[in-house]
Amino acid sequence: MTHHPVTTALAVLSALVACGPAIGDEPVGSLAKAFAGKYRIGVAISTGLVTNPRPAADALIRHQFNSATPENLLKWENVHPDKDRYDFGPADRFVAFGKENDLFLVGHTLVWHSQTPAWVFESAPGVPATREQLLTTMRDHIYNVAGRYAGQIGGWDVVNEALNDDGTLRDSPWRRIIGDDYLEFAFKYAQEADPAAELYYNDYSMHLAAKRDGAVRLVDKLKQAGCRVDAIGMQSHYGMGHPQASEVEASIEALAEAAGKVAITELDINVLPWPSNIAGADVGQSAAASPRLNPYRDGLPAAKQAELAERYAMFFRLYNHHADVIDRVTFWGLDDGRSWHNGWPVRGRTAHSLLFDRSLAPKPAFDAVLRTATETP
Ligand code: XIL
Repeated sequence: MTHHPVTTALAVLSALVACGPAIGDEPVGSLAKAFAGKYRIGVAISTGLVTNPRPAADALIRHQFNSATPENLLKWENVHPDKDRYDFGPADRFVAFGKENDLFLVGHTLVWHSQTPAWVFESAPGVPATREQLLTTMRDHIYNVAGRYAGQIGGWDVVNEALNDDGTLRDSPWRRIIGDDYLEFAFKYAQEADPAAELYYNDYSMHLAAKRDGAVRLVDKLKQAGCRVDAIGMQSHYGMGHPQASEVEASIEALAEAAGKVAITELDINVLPWPSNIAGADVGQSAAASPRLNPYRDGLPAAKQAELAERYAMFFRLYNHHADVIDRVTFWGLDDGRSWHNGWPVRGRTAHSLLFDRSLAPKPAFDAVLRTATETP
């Protein structure tokens, strides 16, 4: 059977359109589809994108990702700003967007020392809460937040950043007031609030040997206490020179051994100079702005783009190699314009940390990551 050339051209065209957004004449592949047999591909969605949706950003999310984490809107200070007031508006919209687009939703986060209002830890202004009071506050919060989205949010970062880099427990108000067993209560309450949700422990700098060992001890202890931990989250806020692939690999192996699964929960690679006083990804840190710390205001030079692409590809080769224990890889932001690196740890910088640029166009790093999905190891 012969086809009329115009009919054939139209068929080809509609096939290209069906593949998703096209840049110029090139159809753009989908990360979610390319990695579908390996792990989920997630994106952190900013509050702005939920309260003020942008059709182009929504289309990109739909095409590229099959999981989403709210970047801020489920954090305590946003969802539960005052003792007797919850603000579920943005979270409800996030959950509806996830449902419409068939995304696996991750709740971030229930118990953390940052972005948590002072009232949580006080019985009256300036008066510390007692252990019993704080446990009640924690339980009510978890029941109300995780309970509200039971069956809709598939997994929770139950506790975020409980460890110091040396593997000991961070001296957070949670620990100071409740004691070392606060994590057991958090996991227990989360399981009660939504028995079907997956429960995660999440932290940064998990490639550090001492922190990795601390996380293994922590999860072992939680399990001994009868808690379920379904995966350990490695945030994975990386730089161009650190960490080494071998450190990351050792942690994937050790953490998967402890919990069964690992999730890469907040991946980004910062190409900007690292201020000397900053380590890890504690949101409480900051450094003064200077032109030296903001070298790529007018765009990332081609050589740096290529270096970033190669570094992303290197991590994805590692993830592919360990795909049997990796549940999900989530990028911390949709595009460079929305990356938290524009404001942290130095305000007002021009970040280039993600796979899509400020106009939502895929960068060389996108192609490099996509290619790893079909490479033979
Ligand atoms: C960051 C957000 O991206 C910023 O918008 C916000 O101002 C501060 O928090 N580790 C985490 C995330 O677990 O919640 C942090 O997100 C980045 C570091």
